[in-house]
Amino acid sequence: MENISLHSDTIEQVKERVDLVEVVSDYVVMQKKGADFVGLCPFHDEKTPSFTVSQSKQLYYCFGCGAGGGAIKFLMEIGKQSFRDVILNLAQRYQIPIKTLAPQDQQAIQQEISLRDQLYEILSVASNFYQHSLQQKEGEKALNYLQIDRNLSLENINKFQLGYAPDGWQTLYHYLVEIKHYPVMLVEQAGLIKKKSKGEGYIDYFRNRLMIPIQDSQGRIIAFGARSLDGSEPKYLNSPETNLFSKSKTLFALNFAQKSIIKQDQVIVVEGYFDAIALHIFAIENVVAVLGTALTQQHIRQLSRYTQSKQIIVNFDADKAGLKATERAIKEVENLVYSGQLKLKILTIPNGKDADEFVRSNPESTQTYQELIKKAPLWLDWQIEQIINNEDSYNSADYELAFQRIVRLINKISNNATKDYYLSHCAEILSRKKNPYANFNSDDFKKVYQSLISATKYSSYNQKKSFPKLGNFSQNSQQAEFLLLLIYLHCPDYRETIIEELDNKDLVFTLKSIRFLWQTIHKLSSSITNDNNQNILLMTVQENMVNYPQFAHELNPLFNLSENYQQVLYEPEHIIRGSIACLESVKLEKYKQYCQQKLNELNQEKDLTKMTFYYQELLTTQTQLKQLETQRMKNEE
Ligand code: CTP
Ligand code: MN
Repeated sequence: MENISLHSDTIEQVKERVDLVEVVSDYVVMQKKGADFVGLCPFHDEKTPSFTVSQSKQLYYCFGCGAGGGAIKFLMEIGKQSFRDVILNLAQRYQIPIKTLAPQDQQAIQQEISLRDQLYEILSVASNFYQHSLQQKEGEKALNYLQIDRNLSLENINKFQLGYAPDGWQTLYHYLVEIKHYPVMLVEQAGLIKKKSKGEGYIDYFRNRLMIPIQDSQGRIIAFGARSLDGSEPKYLNSPETNLFSKSKTLFALNFAQKSIIKQDQVIVVEGYFDAIALHIFAIENVVAVLGTALTQQHIRQLSRYTQSKQIIVNFDADKAGLKATERAIKEVENLVYSGQLKLKILTIPNGKDADEFVRSNPESTQTYQELIKKAPLWLDWQIEQIINNEDSYNSADYELAFQRIVRLINKISNNATKDYYLSHCAEILSRKKNPYANFNSDDFKKVYQSLISATKYSSYNQKKSFPKLGNFSQNSQQAEFLLLLIYLHCPDYRETIIEELDNKDLVFTLKSIRFLWQTIHKLSSSITNDNNQNILLMTVQENMVNYPQFAHELNPLFNLSENYQQVLYEPEHIIRGSIACLESVKLEKYKQYCQQKLNELNQEKDLTKMTFYYQELLTTQTQLKQLETQRMKNEE
C-alpha cells in the first residue's frame, strides 16, 4: 500500500474540505478566545494553554514550543503518519473519492476502505440476529428481564436495539458464516466469534447474554456490551478491541446524546449501560456511559467538542464513590481541570443508589435528578468538601491534616485566578473550622490565609532548594529511610503507596532505630482502626516510643516536626519517589559489589558457570543502576 501514489485531484479536494479546528479537536480540548481557539499544546508538556488555532487562517501555532502549520502537517506530526496516509484518512472521513495515479492501484485502496464497511455490515446483521432472538422462545427470559426487572417498554427495547445471544456454542457462527456466507476471518475481526482454545474451529463470543449494541457517534454499531442473565461472571462482557472498537475511546449512547449535549451545553457521564439507558428514557438525554474504564483524555476530547462551556458531570456509583475511587476514575483528565480547561462536576446520588435505580425508584425522581445536576459541586469543591466537611469537630491534629491536604490540592491548580480564588475560599472554611464554637473572626481568617499562601508558595517555588538533596543516593540512605517514615506517619493517604513501593522493590530499612520504629508501627497498626482523619496511628506510636528513650534522639524529629520537615509533607510524592530510588540504588550497589567480589574469588578454570552467572548479574545490576540515575535526574528537574 505504501507505494501507491494518490492523484492530485484527491489531494486538492481533501485540502479544500478539511477544517483545522475540527481536526485539532480530536486531540486537544479547545476553548474559543476571540477569533481563535486555544488549548494545551499536544506537542509539549504545559500547564497553561499556549496552543492557538486560527480558524480563518487555518493555521496553528504554539507560543510555548513553536510548533506550527496547517491541518495536514498537524496530523502528520501528531500521528507520526506519512502525507499519503493522512490524505487517505481524511478522504475517507469526508467521503471524497480516492483516485490513484496508477489505475491498477485503485483496487488495493478500495479493499482497505471496504474492510471497515464490511465490519459495520456484519455487526449490524449480527445485531438484527440478536434482536430477533430476543423475540423468540429462547429469548423469553431475557425479554422478561428487560420488561419486568428493568421496566423497559418494547419501544425502548427497540430504540436501543437490545437483543439476546442464544445459549448455543455456534448459533451466530452458523447464521453469519453458513447461512449469510460472510468470510470467517471478517466475522472474527468483528469480534463476534473466536477460535476454540482446543482443536479447530470457532465458537460464538457471546452466549446466553443480553446484548447491548455500542454505536459510534454516527449510529453505526461498532461493538457489543453483554450482560449475563444467570449470575455467571463476568457480569458484563464487552467485544474485544477491533479495527472499529476501542474501549478507552468509546462512549455508550453518544449517538443518542449528541443533540441534547449541545442544547444543554453540558454532559453527564455515568458508569453503566443501564444507567445511561434509564436516564435517556426518563428524558434526561445528555447522558453517556463509559465502558468499564476510567475517563480518558480521548473521552473528554470527544465530549468537549459538543459543549462550549466544557461542563462534564460525572455520576459514578455512590457506593464506590469515595475520594480515592473518584480520583482514580478521573486521574487521567485531572490536569485539564487544574489548568481551567474543563469544568468537571461530581454528582452523588444519596443512599448509594446508581442512576438507573434512582430514576426508576419513584415518579418524581426525574425532577430530583435534575436538581442534583444543578447542585453538583465542582471537582475541586467536592474534594475540599470531602477533606474538610465530614468532620463535626476539629482537634488540632485533624486540622493539621486537613490543612496539609488542602495545600497539596491547591498546589495542583495551575491557573492563577482559580488558585487565588481557592486560596481564600479554603482559608475561610479552615478558619471557621478551627474553632467551631466561636463565630467567624476576621483575624483568624487572615492568619489562616497567610499560612496557606506561604505554604503553597513555599512548596511550589522553593521546595527543591530547601530540601536535603536526595541526589547522592548512597550517602543519603539514612535520610531516605527517615523521610519515608516521616511521610508514613503524617500522611495516611500515602501509607499504602509506601508499603507497596517497599514490597514491590523488595526493600528493607537498615537503620536500627528506623527498623525498630517500623516494627512498632506494624504491631500497633493491627489494633488500630484506620481512621485517616484522626491520625490515631501517629498518636499511638508517639506515646509508645516514650518507653524507648534510647531511640529518642534519632526519632523525636519525626514527631516534633521542624519547619523544614513540615514542608516535606506538602508534596510527598516527590520525596517518596526520591527516597525509594535512593534505597533501591543502595541495595543494587551492594549487590554489585558482592558480584564483583565473587568474580575476584572464583577460579576461571573450575567455576566458569558460576563466573558467567555473576558476570551477567553484574551487568544487569549496572543497567538498573543507570536507569535509576536517569530517573533521579528527571526527579530533580
Ligand atoms: N462493567 C464491566 N465489567 C464487569 C462489570 C461491570 O465492564 N464485569 C461495566 C459495564 O460497563 C457496566 C458498568 O461497569 O455497565 C457498571 O457495572 P456495575 O457497577 O456492576 O453496575 P450495576 O448497576 O451493578 O449493573 P446492573 O445494573 O446491570 O446490575
Ligand atoms: Mn445498576
